[in-house]
Amino acid sequence: MPTDQELISAAWIAREKAYAPYSKFKVGAALLGADGEIVLGCNVENLSYGLTNCAERVAIGAAVARGVTRFDAVAVVADTGVPISPCGACRQVLAEFGVGRIILANRTESLEFTLEELLPRMSAGILDKAE
Ligand code: THU
Repeated sequence: MPTDQELISAAWIAREKAYAPYSKFKVGAALLGADGEIVLGCNVENLSYGLTNCAERVAIGAAVARGVTRFDAVAVVADTGVPISPCGACRQVLAEFGVGRIILANRTESLEFTLEELLPRMSAGILDKAE
């Protein structure tokens, strides 16, 4: 199994591929599958702005397309003053797959969170039946 530092390093490599001509803000993500496989993602922007895909969701999509749907951790990196914070949409998508540990890093520090910390009551009530 790769170490957290190796997962963070993989996310930095993924970040190099970011397509971010509008924001110029590059993000990399590295998902650690339960089988030990690492799947990478980077943000992919679009002229319409609203169709931009974040690095986290690109990584999830790439992993699912490879048949990897169980994840131990994800590392997300950007060149920010403090470690980056995933957007609400990405939190919900990470929650869909129960990603165990969420590691957020910049060039100097990393922080670790659980899904529950980043998205409290993530599925409460959704699709509940009245009867
Ligand atoms: N972005 C990510 O890819 N992940 C995050 O956690 C935050 C934001 C991207 C979306 C957009 O391409 C750029 O960063 C600026 O928001």
